[in-house]
Amino acid sequence: MADIRCDFNNLFTTRVGKHGLRESWLKQIEPKVKTAVRALHKHRGEGMTGWMDLPRQSDQVKKLLASARRKRGRFDDVVVLGIGGSALGTVALRGALLHPFHNLLPRRDRKGLPRLHVLDNVDPVFQSGLFDDVLDLPRTLFVVITKSGSTAETMSQFLTAYDTVAGCLGADRVAKHMIAITDAHQGHLRPVADDLGLESYAIPEGVGGRFSVLSPVGLVPAALCGMDVRGLLAGAARMDERCRVASLWRNPAALFAATQYLADRKQDARVSVMMPYAQGLKEVADWYAQLWAESLGKARDRRGREVHVGPTPVKALGVTDQHSQVQLYTEGPYDKVVTFLTVDKFRLRLPLPKVPDDLAGCEGLAYLGGQSMARLFHAEQEATRIALCEAGRMNQTISLPRPDANALGQLFYLLEMATAVAGELYDVNAFDQPGVEAGKSATYALMGRSGFEDRAREIRARKPGLKKYVL
Ligand code: PA5
Repeated sequence: MADIRCDFNNLFTTRVGKHGLRESWLKQIEPKVKTAVRALHKHRGEGMTGWMDLPRQSDQVKKLLASARRKRGRFDDVVVLGIGGSALGTVALRGALLHPFHNLLPRRDRKGLPRLHVLDNVDPVFQSGLFDDVLDLPRTLFVVITKSGSTAETMSQFLTAYDTVAGCLGADRVAKHMIAITDAHQGHLRPVADDLGLESYAIPEGVGGRFSVLSPVGLVPAALCGMDVRGLLAGAARMDERCRVASLWRNPAALFAATQYLADRKQDARVSVMMPYAQGLKEVADWYAQLWAESLGKARDRRGREVHVGPTPVKALGVTDQHSQVQLYTEGPYDKVVTFLTVDKFRLRLPLPKVPDDLAGCEGLAYLGGQSMARLFHAEQEATRIALCEAGRMNQTISLPRPDANALGQLFYLLEMATAVAGELYDVNAFDQPGVEAGKSATYALMGRSGFEDRAREIRARKPGLKKYVL
């Protein structure tokens, strides 16, 4: 299998001029990066770095693949109940590895595989649209996923799904229509799943939500929908090997992290735009946005000092956003680094027809006739890269040989590892999310959950806003 390729050339002053990075800056932080990489590998698997060992897990993978095989043909819809890190990896997998219109295809064209829905929200209109108008319950399988086993969004989705299945099919049928993925011991979902006799999987220790796509969190839905789970893990294992080298110049994750960090620190470029040039990778940019934002956006460093650091991830899509955001990227403030995600070889090229004689006089068509959509797509990608360089804007390219499971596994692992190294460079804990937890506890308080009475009182005691500011 071919390796994905990272081209960092266009980050440097040699390509983009004075708003780029100097190689000397990289040389200065090289020892720090080496220490960071070594520390991560030395302590791999410890604390919250359990995700580093996911490419080589085997027991749960065998179990989930066997279970998916047994279920084949029994379900038309798989619904993931979960949010954030418990949902975004599956969304990215669905976009990248299934037919672009998988959920719209007739069953036969889906080769009997189920459609895949991911709630990732509690919008009542969205949820009831799915439950009331799309699902055929006797042929629906719910997969409830929550690491903490207590997130309000997921628990409320679970409650609805349980009530719907029990109400329509009978409480004794729930276990046939639901799988639970949660911590092995902690949280409220584990005992519920055990009591109901649900098939369940443990999210391994040391694997946080946004680092869990290669655990049962992403692999169970992937296997149920016929994706190449082993290919994903093999790709991740390959990238793990490539990222074990301490040398900054040979470790793609280390170089990714170091250049992004320097762009922020030396050039005030702390907006990290991920721009896939492949519709199927659009949701990888969503997944990355959460990974980068939640891991690195922190109020305090590891010694407890107030720092308020963190790059801002932005999602864009090539070519769509050439006609929306690229104007800002080429002419606006020099505060961004654009990461292109590209694919060397698409599954098909989609030839453009020859221009018919009666339209031969149209200059706007003449040069396109007889070429291919793939060629146009690649030309547009190259054109954007050239435009950014000419405007002195930092950009880099990660190229996937093909948009397949192996390449995607490499990409997930590369970006997870880069995030962990960046956490070391910013000297923050990349694996916690106190800001998210603050929101969760405020929700519990507002919803009257017991144990959160003090928080509810604090919220009630907040000064009301001024009328004059409400129009
Ligand atoms: O990355 C994270 O830890 C978060 O985004 C969580 O995935 C998200 O808050 C959902 O949490 P849980 O899986 O505990 O329900």
